[in-house]
Amino acid sequence: MTATNTCIVGLTWGDEAKGKIVDILSAEHDVVVRYNGGNNAGHTVAFEGETYKLHLVPSGLFHPNVTCIIGGGLVVDPQVLLQEISDNEAKAKGLRRRLLVSDRAHTIWPWHKKIEALSEKHLGKGKIGTTLRGIGPAYADKANRVTAIRMGELLRPDHLRPKVERIVRQKNEVFTKVFGDEPLDPAAVWDEYVAYGEQLAPMIADTTAWLLRALADGKRILFEGAQGTLLDIDHGTYPYVTSSNASVAGVWPGTGVSPRVIGNILGVVKAYTTRVGEGPFPTELTGDVGDQIRKQGNEYGTTTGRPRRCGWLDTFAIRYAAAVNGLDGIVITLLDVLGGLPELKVCTGYTVDDKALEAFPSDPVALGRAKPVLEALEPWPDDISGARSFDALPAAAQAYVHRVEELVGVPVRMVSIGPDREQTIRRD
Ligand code: GDP
Ligand code: IMO
Ligand code: MG
Repeated sequence: MTATNTCIVGLTWGDEAKGKIVDILSAEHDVVVRYNGGNNAGHTVAFEGETYKLHLVPSGLFHPNVTCIIGGGLVVDPQVLLQEISDNEAKAKGLRRRLLVSDRAHTIWPWHKKIEALSEKHLGKGKIGTTLRGIGPAYADKANRVTAIRMGELLRPDHLRPKVERIVRQKNEVFTKVFGDEPLDPAAVWDEYVAYGEQLAPMIADTTAWLLRALADGKRILFEGAQGTLLDIDHGTYPYVTSSNASVAGVWPGTGVSPRVIGNILGVVKAYTTRVGEGPFPTELTGDVGDQIRKQGNEYGTTTGRPRRCGWLDTFAIRYAAAVNGLDGIVITLLDVLGGLPELKVCTGYTVDDKALEAFPSDPVALGRAKPVLEALEPWPDDISGARSFDALPAAAQAYVHRVEELVGVPVRMVSIGPDREQTIRRD
């Protein structure tokens, strides 16, 4: 790939192996910036026999010349961030000196996690199936403004104290009177967060100004999306979505950088489809083949450990995601997982009441009723994880990739055939 600014975005419901791809492409960029979400994300990077799981720090951290930025569009749990920094700094040399956190980013507090747990429990079967990290309530407070606290405010303890007291008083009313639960102690929470602020102070900065200067200096920026387009709050399968713009739409609000500077938007998608949590999933496989994919793909959540729901690749949904993002290319990951399946299918469209749909449904009820139109493709028995060129893949695996290109109408630029950096075939 030539020197340019790149965006890596998930095309479905998350966990498409974006972390692996960001790590690889970081070698060709100077800056990696996360633009949305929080520690609901779990991004995996594997090299030299070790595996690293990241939730907040951008997946470029293992490249010593790369500056890592947590953009203003995130909601940050400072405790999780500090833990992640200390867990990884031995391998990610000099991380504290090359990690910046936007002063505009919003913060996650104990009341966010508490209200989310109470709400999901209260909803029972009607729950969203969130990661319970406080993401949605923190974004709700951001939109509400008067109950939100930004990263920069952690550096002003005197200002923070009365604000925390006021917010906790209000939240405690809901905990005790609506849910009959225990109140929080504002003084203890304030103490805890002031200490986090002291530790994070050297890294908190106006990252918009920093990024705009870096662009002017010709630095190459890699934008790292968390979650995926179908989890985007505006363009995803609402209400079973996350609370941020997980598509490329999140770049602008999440970093302050115009998406016009991005020369290469790459959408990452697994060779099949997975989803964690609730919500419609037209190509879901609930029988033996789905179980085999889960087993071969080790499909358990990186953040919560929950088993992921598995199904056939949904090119109808991907075509929608490709159009929403304005993709330049696709990265197909976990292609190796399909090896040895007794049958292989892709979804080419949806029908509702035997009528073909023209567009991906905006309505969750319609999506729930949609039946996938499935096309059978030739499976391959082989383990392809050792292949190092596209030509070395079995003909059936090559044909699968070509069919995806045809159905989505976007070229496949990379193919991943194992978790390690080395297990990557580039076609660019
Ligand atoms: P992300 O959230 O998009 O970064 O993806 P996750 O890290 O949550 O999930 C992807 C999982 O697949 C991780 O466990 C990766 O180590 C693993 N992985 C990545 N690429 C491949 C691949 O090509 N083949 C296989 N078998 N596993 C992969
Ligand atoms: P990465 O970046 C997969 C899902 C949750 C739930 C919904 C809302 O690793 O791809 P939230 O806690 O965000 O309010 O949960 O979104 N979800 C993810 N699923 N990968 C993720 O991130 C996810 N982040 C959130 O399971 O269905
Ligand atoms: Mg993940």
